[in-house]
Amino acid sequence: MTHKWWQNAVIYQIYPQSFQDSNNDGIGDLPGIVKRLPYLQKLGVDVLWLNPIYQSPLKDNGYDIADYKKILPVYGSMADFDNLLKQIHAHGMKLLMDLVVNHTSDQHRWFQESKQSKDNQYADYYIWRDPVNGHEPNNWHAAFGGSAWTFVPERGQYYLHLFAPGQPDLNWENPAVRESVWNIMRFWLDKGIDGFRMDVINLISKPAGLPDAPEPGTYPLTEGLVADGPKLDDYLREMNEKVLSHYDVMTVGEMPSSKPEDAINYTGLNSHELNMVFQFQHVALEPNPDKRLGKWNDQPVKLPELKKALSRWQKALDGKGWNSLYWNNHDQPRAVSRFANDDPKYRVRAAKMLGTTLHMMQGTPFVFEGEELGMANVHYTHLDQYEDLESINAYHELVDEKKLVDGPTMLKYLANISRDNARTPMPWDDSQNAGFSDATPWFALNPTYQQINAKAAVADKDSVFYHYQKLIQLRHDSDLVKFGNYDEIDPDDAEVFAYRRHYQGDTLLVMSNFTDKTLTRNYRQARAAKLVLSNYDNDQGVTLRPYESKVYLFN
Ligand code: GLC
Ligand code: CA
Repeated sequence: MTHKWWQNAVIYQIYPQSFQDSNNDGIGDLPGIVKRLPYLQKLGVDVLWLNPIYQSPLKDNGYDIADYKKILPVYGSMADFDNLLKQIHAHGMKLLMDLVVNHTSDQHRWFQESKQSKDNQYADYYIWRDPVNGHEPNNWHAAFGGSAWTFVPERGQYYLHLFAPGQPDLNWENPAVRESVWNIMRFWLDKGIDGFRMDVINLISKPAGLPDAPEPGTYPLTEGLVADGPKLDDYLREMNEKVLSHYDVMTVGEMPSSKPEDAINYTGLNSHELNMVFQFQHVALEPNPDKRLGKWNDQPVKLPELKKALSRWQKALDGKGWNSLYWNNHDQPRAVSRFANDDPKYRVRAAKMLGTTLHMMQGTPFVFEGEELGMANVHYTHLDQYEDLESINAYHELVDEKKLVDGPTMLKYLANISRDNARTPMPWDDSQNAGFSDATPWFALNPTYQQINAKAAVADKDSVFYHYQKLIQLRHDSDLVKFGNYDEIDPDDAEVFAYRRHYQGDTLLVMSNFTDKTLTRNYRQARAAKLVLSNYDNDQGVTLRPYESKVYLFN
């Protein structure tokens, strides 16, 4: 196979409202991103992915789009967008946009018309069903709480929304819907963007007959029921044929609950669908044992399970498809708190250790803003500190309505797993409002910003920032890092995550101590080794100090 540019790339994810404010309204914006391009260039990333910046009532921070071809004015104008794209390219980077087409906002013109009657131009753009015995058409529960169906008196029907009521699901069975999506994609591609991240794209094909969920009221609704539906491959192939194949771009499909076998179909070298997927198995390892509580839990992840989840994908896709690699994004808590240790004593080493463990795998790595600073969770203790509708709705539903859990326990769960942990504004320096804005930011800063900020990181040669810079450089310079196959070591070891990569006779050995203890591990290797990267000085061979992580090359 000929190598593709995105196999050499490291992607940096920008959450626009929390990245950089340029006009001091407290909200990040497009000119703010332009201002920070030199910082991103210094880090060495190749591609920027922006979360949605389109016209939206922002019920779900932009994942509810009211007009796909307009920029939300608080972020700037279309001229600001065109300039941003130009500047990104001028800095030698590329741009991925977020494509959210499982659903629109209920404020989108298509939905506004669709809901009026059963015979307007957009009547079949959404999934409408008659009541069944005066009730919802099935027992599906929405991801953001309550039923997945909302009744509209004008039509005398219910519409389906897998997420919030303000996010009605599009009816992909309707060819006109698909044509409309292709049209949106071409609009952005013709502007010269370099690809798409596709929101919950494996939910677009619903199961025939929309059958009841076997366990009503449990999360996630998607698993084995609405995800990876019968026509998904057809839709993705059509998208590829009609749109993507006409451009040299990259695609990554967000696919909650997909398994490696599914992903081989979607990312297969000959399947002509997508380039890679965001799988969820390694970020869904500690669901609450009470299924009605879904992901809300505060238990630490067990290392053998984490290893198993990641190794499985490494092995399954090798030579057959392509992996994305990520610890963090806008929907996940901060990795250093979740998988390692955010105690000030260990945070920097632990963040570097996590970076090394992931970046030395096969696939395209994604870095979420602030990850390169080793940012940790915010550790909120009150519900009114949260912004995210998922967290707030879950609290009300599980604590107040269903009384499945008490308030203080739910607050612990939120502190552990809420998406808001990732969404605090980017700390640029230690000044008031952290250099993010002169005004009070739309969402409170992480209180650690005086210590953990970009300016401090760039001034400190031992920072997480420079470690990530090295990881990115290593990938760029090494076909072994990019393409080597993956060989796990001691999957049951609950303290160390170790693996080898092999490529054309060379071997890379990666060993990471996930504990605060000093350990000894001897992975015997016949040939002499060269230490390529470490998060400690003075290599001590078989000894691994707390959160130590090192990479050896054998050639
Ligand atoms: C995806 C997005 C998430 C959003 C959801 C509904 O999971 O990443 O932020 O809430 O889809 O669009
Ligand atoms: Ca602004």
